[in-house]
Amino acid sequence: MVTLSVIKADIGGYVGHSSMHPDLMTKGNECMAKAKKDGMLIDYHVTKCGDDLQLIMTHTLGEENDKINKLAWDTFIDCTEIAKQLKLYGAGQDLLSDSYSGNIKGMGPGVAEMEFEERVAEPIIIYMADKTSSGAWNMPLYKMFADPFNTIGLVISEKMHQGYTFEIHDVKESKKIMLSSPEEIYDMLVFMGAPSRYAVKAVYHRPSGEIAAVSSTQKLSLIAGKYVGKDDPVCIVRCQGQFPAVGEVLEPFAFPALVEGWMRGSHHGPLMPVALADANPSRFDGPPRVIAAGFQLAEGKLVGPVDMFDDPSFDPAREQANVAGEYMRRHGPFEPHRLPLEEMEYTTMPSVSKKLEGRFKDI
Ligand code: F6R
Ligand code: MG
Ligand code: MG
Repeated sequence: MVTLSVIKADIGGYVGHSSMHPDLMTKGNECMAKAKKDGMLIDYHVTKCGDDLQLIMTHTLGEENDKINKLAWDTFIDCTEIAKQLKLYGAGQDLLSDSYSGNIKGMGPGVAEMEFEERVAEPIIIYMADKTSSGAWNMPLYKMFADPFNTIGLVISEKMHQGYTFEIHDVKESKKIMLSSPEEIYDMLVFMGAPSRYAVKAVYHRPSGEIAAVSSTQKLSLIAGKYVGKDDPVCIVRCQGQFPAVGEVLEPFAFPALVEGWMRGSHHGPLMPVALADANPSRFDGPPRVIAAGFQLAEGKLVGPVDMFDDPSFDPAREQANVAGEYMRRHGPFEPHRLPLEEMEYTTMPSVSKKLEGRFKDI
């Protein structure tokens, strides 16, 4: 069995919240190289999406492993030191605890990991997003694993025809439910269609029970009890054979759906699929970005990545995202560009309401 762990954190932006300083990536690579040399990791790949440092690791220690969690935490701490020296913006922003306490998930960084038996060929796509939250994967995962207009394999492949089970988390109440496609899609969409509260944590192949996809579902604001930045989630998807083909897994992102996030984590904006080099959200701190790193696994070695959205066939999605983004922007501080009151990460509502308390008259 091999475990693929993707652990990410915003530990300082360059410039502002737009991108990552190369020295942080160098440090991240150094820490990972040492862990590989020491035998803890089979392989690793360090990358970034916007202002988030992404540690992609393979090992045999299983999910939620303390050594791997601590390795990621220590790497983020070492990178934060550099971020502090360079006075990068929000140095150590996602590290919500002063010291490592054994459960990295509750401490700020985002985590997606899966343990599985590597197939003869194991194509994997790792999605990483910036300036949005974990519910952003709901629509793409639904399309990949439950919508035949996206994934024709659901209709014409014997290996996929029995469908998939979705594990949906209520991120506010910390509850989960398993629902199966295709029989239960109407029930499933009641929850999945409300991504600010319900996020797809994992998808399983029904006949075999094998893990197909897993996402990070941390909600930073709920962990910290106050605004500390959007979650900027990650998602791992296995492809081909009993899973959707690479092209079916990428296809949902040809539509730049509106997601929560963007400026001050308080707006709706289109999720723009981009090449790694273009994952530096700048306009109005956005619009939200998603990158796709494709790998083949070979005995746990990460062969790749291929920058999957670095393809002109995604140009129309980017153009559409710009048009939709402009349309949303023209609403300024009005909903539905601005998020509903309870979802905004920044708000002056309590203080302004208090100040004007006496001026509200009964009508
Ligand atoms: C969104 C994000 C940014 C900041 C914005 C204000 O997730 O990180 O849009 O919210 O740049 O940042 P502060 O309050 O730090 O000046
Ligand atoms: Mg940031
Ligand atoms: Mg970020």
